[in-house]
Amino acid sequence: MSELNNLNLDIEEKKQTFDDVVEKPQEIVNPIDDTQESVSENKFESLNTNEEKPTLFNGVEISQLTKRQLKKYRRMLKWNKTKKEKRAKERLKLKSKKIFAKENNIDLGPSRKQLKMCTMDSSPCKTTVVIDLSFDDLMIDKDMGKVIKQILRIYTENRRSPTPMQLYITNFNGKSKIEMEKHNGYEHWDINFRSENYLDVFPKEKLIYLTSESDNDIMELSQDKVYIIGGLVDHNAHKGLCYKTAIEQGISHGRLPITEYFYTKRRKVFTINQVFEILLRVSEGKSFKDALELVLPKRINIQPAETLKSSG
Ligand SMILES: C[S@@+](CC[C@H](N)C(=O)[O-])C[C@H]1O[C@@H](n2cnc3c(N)ncnc32)[C@H](O)[C@@H]1O
Repeated sequence: MSELNNLNLDIEEKKQTFDDVVEKPQEIVNPIDDTQESVSENKFESLNTNEEKPTLFNGVEISQLTKRQLKKYRRMLKWNKTKKEKRAKERLKLKSKKIFAKENNIDLGPSRKQLKMCTMDSSPCKTTVVIDLSFDDLMIDKDMGKVIKQILRIYTENRRSPTPMQLYITNFNGKSKIEMEKHNGYEHWDINFRSENYLDVFPKEKLIYLTSESDNDIMELSQDKVYIIGGLVDHNAHKGLCYKTAIEQGISHGRLPITEYFYTKRRKVFTINQVFEILLRVSEGKSFKDALELVLPKRINIQPAETLKSSG
């Protein structure tokens, strides 16, 4: 019985809200790309198949490693030893989870195989979202790293969607590109990476810059429009920058319709991945209200606007 309970918990875990993911950051791996494993294995540059101990770790002679690197190196050795066993256990667990779900009519969502086929090309959703990476020089490295992490989340969400949106990254040429290069094989991910500005990629009249400073509530998504999200993590240091950019470039702008549905004392600027996920859920058929409720962290104290009106 306790095993069944465990399986139940596992299934619940799989259905965790995005909120939980934000609260407890997890390592982001490409959900489809099987090359991830080889990324960490590459660290052992001279490890041969007979499990001989390597002579180099991350390009440094083992005898020259610092205390910290040595700790990492030992952890890697340990992992190398146990990973096969762990993987086998994981596979077994997954198998029983699937059997249990089948027997109990629980929908575990699309399989890996099905997801592989859900590419942007084959997607019926033609709504385009651009992440504008023209702000690299305004961010310290740590914040630049956060932008890339959020893009990885976006990619994961889009890849897991049965109807992925058309995802573009523009101005992909500076520090952000260098940061992204840390992720092996990223060039093969199902994302349109473009070094040009979005103005050089799409007709101007199709562009809508998303910004919390806009007064235009976006009430529905159009397959014919291109929605731009600013690739900026600035802790509010550059308040209104994206709004100003849209005005200067003479392109349309709009905000998520949060005040239409909710009352919140908190400021209404969201992270890049939250904005993307709200758009994705809406493009999949949810209402903006449901998408906002689903994606925004519970700790953002949002209340339905009707509750507020009725309580005076
Ligand atoms: C962390 S915010 C960056 C804030 C930045 N100070 C600015 O000028 O937009 C990242 C991006 O998410 C989008 N965004 C955040 N909150 C939004 C909202 N309430 N409505 C529409 N877009 C939003 C914007 O595109 C924004 O550039």
